[in-house]
Amino acid sequence: MEKETLIAEINRLRHEKNAVIMAHYYQTGDIQDIADVVGDSLALAQWAAKTTADILVVCGVHFMGETAKILSPDKKVLVPDINAGCSLADSCNADEFAAFVGAHPDHTVISYVNTTAAVKALTDVVVTSSNAQKIVEQFPKDAKLIFGPDRNLGSYINKTTGRDMLLWNGACHVHEQFSVERLVELKQAHPHAKVLAHPECKNVVLTLADVIGSTQKLLDYAIHSDDTEFLVATESGILHEMQKRCPQKNFIPVPPIDSTCGCNNCNFMRLNTLDKLYNCLLHETPEITIDENIRAKAVRPILKMLEMSK
Ligand code: 13P
Ligand code: SF4
Repeated sequence: MEKETLIAEINRLRHEKNAVIMAHYYQTGDIQDIADVVGDSLALAQWAAKTTADILVVCGVHFMGETAKILSPDKKVLVPDINAGCSLADSCNADEFAAFVGAHPDHTVISYVNTTAAVKALTDVVVTSSNAQKIVEQFPKDAKLIFGPDRNLGSYINKTTGRDMLLWNGACHVHEQFSVERLVELKQAHPHAKVLAHPECKNVVLTLADVIGSTQKLLDYAIHSDDTEFLVATESGILHEMQKRCPQKNFIPVPPIDSTCGCNNCNFMRLNTLDKLYNCLLHETPEITIDENIRAKAVRPILKMLEMSK
């Protein structure tokens, strides 16, 4: 199907079916452009909690679809590609996490939203990269805390909050891959550029950054600062919205190690396409389903997050 017809068909179907299309900033530009809402993980969860649509199409990765379903169990939650997983969520097996939590019964469990529903069911409060610092700061300084699964975000939050949380040893294969050498070269070639980095990056990248934060925070900084040039160390999908909102500014993606291409793409996020989005709206599949026992446990830490991030 021609792209224009595809877009017209997606528009027809979403209106007929009272469906809402939600896209993460790491989606391709054409998916972001057609979405009803584009945002970071927190914004997508907040939207899923309040939408009145009958169908939610979550263009992101599996855990984002699960979060929407956990919050809106009576709605149909669809994803364009059921195989769009997340290496960070995969780095935290629920049985192993349960054993870790069980070995520290006096600890409060904080989990990053990049986790399966089964891990969320073992959690006291969920966080995203937007609100992790704010939520951790609400616990007493000497509170015993577990943070999983991202060791880079966890140690960054330990540093910014003066905490000593026990960290799960997980990571995102995309954010771990930024080349420090290339970043240093880019900084030399663009001495006035500000370095924007996601906290899932390794500490050595974060030490070279001017701004560290969620995709939304990095975007907001690019929009509101007087700076005109940026080196961006997160998944390159965010450059679409940055460039759209700031057409006169220059955004340069920081490349990964071992790549001839300048961009660092998440292969899971990029499984979603306009064609798959159209097919999933048309056939109402693949659909996210969650065991009700797990969902009922997993919703509590997500609602707690939404409350604590107000
Ligand atoms: P955000 O919290 O910025 O949406 O990050 C989500 C993510 O998957 C980062 O890799
Ligand atoms: Fe998961 Fe990393 Fe992809 Fe984000 S960029 S969805 S953390 S694999």
